[in-house]
Amino acid sequence: MKILIKNGMIVSDSETYQADILIEDEKVKWIGTDLPKTDVDTVIDAEGKYVIPGAIDVHTHMDIDVGIARAVDDFYDGTVAAACGGTTSIVDHMGFGPAGVPLHYQFNEYKKLTEGKAVIDYGFHGVAQHVDDDIIAELETMAEDGIPSVKAYLTYGFKLNDAEVLQILKKMKEIGGVTAFHCENHELVEYMRKKLVEEGKTAPIYHAKSRPNLVEAEAVERVLKLARLAGDAPVYIVHLSCKESLEAVREARRNGQKNIFVETCPQYLLLTEECYEREDGLKYIMSPPLRTQADCDALWEGLADGTIQVVATDHCPFNYGIEKQMGKDDFTKCPNGAPGVEERLMLLYSEGVVKNRISFQKLVETLCTNPAKIYGLCPQKGVLQPGADGDLVVIDPKKESVITKSRMHGAADYTGYEGWNINGEIDMVMQRGRVIVKENDFVGEKGAGQFIHRHTLKAEDIN
Ligand code: URP
Ligand code: ZN
Ligand code: ZN
Repeated sequence: MKILIKNGMIVSDSETYQADILIEDEKVKWIGTDLPKTDVDTVIDAEGKYVIPGAIDVHTHMDIDVGIARAVDDFYDGTVAAACGGTTSIVDHMGFGPAGVPLHYQFNEYKKLTEGKAVIDYGFHGVAQHVDDDIIAELETMAEDGIPSVKAYLTYGFKLNDAEVLQILKKMKEIGGVTAFHCENHELVEYMRKKLVEEGKTAPIYHAKSRPNLVEAEAVERVLKLARLAGDAPVYIVHLSCKESLEAVREARRNGQKNIFVETCPQYLLLTEECYEREDGLKYIMSPPLRTQADCDALWEGLADGTIQVVATDHCPFNYGIEKQMGKDDFTKCPNGAPGVEERLMLLYSEGVVKNRISFQKLVETLCTNPAKIYGLCPQKGVLQPGADGDLVVIDPKKESVITKSRMHGAADYTGYEGWNINGEIDMVMQRGRVIVKENDFVGEKGAGQFIHRHTLKAEDIN
């Protein structure tokens, strides 16, 4: 199959230019001007439209069991939603398994959850529940099996202590892998939650009050120091949400620390803790919690100035009408997390690019190219260049739409952005040369997604 995409404005992480893209046998074959239509099976006219690499979401939680509830998107619903939002690859954070299991246990479980279901390409991050010699050795075999990244939580049920974190960081540095961290100070969170509940402060707003900015920033600072102690081991901070954490990152970099990668999510850029005061405040219970407008502004600045490398989603959807209601009398009983995988790209385009908060190149850098480079998917994914997979999104900047649940594809019964106006619309999404989304309709195939065997970091990938 040969597909020619004519006259689109191609946006990369560094430039925007008009050209044609020829895709053959699932790969980008050539990019150039006036490419001939002869011998081509399909020609797609992209005149007046933007063409970007398929977006990559390196922080999703499809089908995750969080103990008190299970995320409502399985790998079919969740990846259809992702595809319709212009995301052609995910790297999912696997959930916890039974205590004491090896890293491969969850990998095997997740193979079963994805096979025959995922509609876009996918990888997994390992999850460290405990640390011993076997787990440290297994980090290497996980990398050999295509999973060169592992997540460590500094709070929740399987939180790791500093000595455990240090051991992981050292090993991951040795093998060229990345350690991702959920940064919140566990003891402080637990203390504040308990105290607030004892005082009868159980409404959703107290979720935010129980996890203030400094509780996150302290953990960010600690992890950065541990990474420094491990010889500037690659460290990736997931869902960074506040200005104090950004300052900790800047300070570490000013001190010469290398290999620090930072992620934020649309909800921290666009929503504030005022959402918790709404009647439907439970929809927004997630950790870290939503912050203030000053934090949102600082994050946009951090994105524009390069402090932040990636915008992912932390997609972890529950139904407002069911699972989220577990928290109606007490925020501590509400499953944490919210949907977002479908909204991300167009929110960033409309709220970021159209409103001049970031350039279009910065959007491509943080949603496509950087996640691919950091997590070992590049040059197969994240860029449009000869040899890369034919994963791309065509955006029509002249169209407008409104975000509303009835137009969305995930299983959750709400979107946190109901009624938001969006400038521009996704016209078409292609994965490995096949059109999988056309004008908001999913036209791909259940189970067509492939496991991405990711590689470890090369020196040129890290800073
Ligand atoms: O509240 C959240 N973010 N739930 C998903 C799990 C996590 O912490 O990333
Ligand atoms: Zn987290
Ligand atoms: Zn998460």
